[in-house]
Amino acid sequence: MNITSVGVIGGGVMGRSIAVDLLFHGFQVVLVDLSGEILDAAFQEIMRNIRFSALVKKSLPLINPEEAAQNIQLTTVLSEVGQCDFIIENVTEDWAVKEGIYRKLDEICRPEVCFGVNTSCISITKVGSVTGRSGQVIGMHFMNPAVLKPSIEVIKGYYTSEATIQLVNQFLALMEKEAIIVEDLPGFVSNRVSHLFMNEAAFVVMDQVASPEAVDRIFKQCYGHKMGPLETADLIGIDTVVKSLDVLYESYQDSKFRCCPMLRKMVDAGRLGKKSGQGFYVYG
Ligand code: NAI
Repeated sequence: MNITSVGVIGGGVMGRSIAVDLLFHGFQVVLVDLSGEILDAAFQEIMRNIRFSALVKKSLPLINPEEAAQNIQLTTVLSEVGQCDFIIENVTEDWAVKEGIYRKLDEICRPEVCFGVNTSCISITKVGSVTGRSGQVIGMHFMNPAVLKPSIEVIKGYYTSEATIQLVNQFLALMEKEAIIVEDLPGFVSNRVSHLFMNEAAFVVMDQVASPEAVDRIFKQCYGHKMGPLETADLIGIDTVVKSLDVLYESYQDSKFRCCPMLRKMVDAGRLGKKSGQGFYVYG
């Protein structure tokens, strides 16, 4: 199947990031979210990031933001993705929200269309099971900023077909990315491991062992990581990190995933990280 148009559901941190990547690679994008206000903010950020990404990654195809703007349609009406060739879903990390979306997408989209689920921890098999096309449902765990990442974690649900995996490989090749394929267990590889780092780093700060800066510097300057665990939590969004830890805790029934109370307090205080202007750090 030829993929030229992609329905991106959810225009938050990841929807925006993936829309930028798709526009750089010549796809038509239909971006869906709940309100015109969210979509306007998403559009502004997408345009800013098109300019910024071209400066950071010189190998990206040259695109003119005005032309890119013509390749993106913004809508609050989910059925407008009905003609898209592929779906990448990035709504809130909440099973009830995702379930509702997939039941509707299954009715709206052509039968041959595949669904890429961008989730931190929710089971791809469970998502597939609420559709009549579980073979065409696959996890696509993009990381932010998507356009700068050469690979993504691709998750095979219990019923995901070989044809779907092949199609996703071809699609990703057009986006100059490679798939790293893993099995479907909660948190997959990346979040099962990284959320332990982020959560324990939050406990370290709560216990006043070190400041956020000191924790992150140890990871960057001693281990050679590009970002520290608390900067990463801010970039992901503290609310998303908390939701993911709760899914991991529930799924494995393992206390090692108990969410640090300080992270919950930050969410209650609206300190969600980069997207709200303040998390462990303040953003200008
Ligand atoms: P976010 O909270 O920034 O954005 C979610 C968006 O979904 C919001 O704009 C919200 O209005 C929209 N939404 C909620 N219900 C909707 C509906 N019924 N129809 C249309 N839009 C709806 O969340 P974020 O960070 O973008 O995460 C999205 C998904 O991607 C989550 O499942 C998350 O676990 C996953 N993810 C997040 C990463 C990150 O770095 N933030 C990395 C990889 C995956």
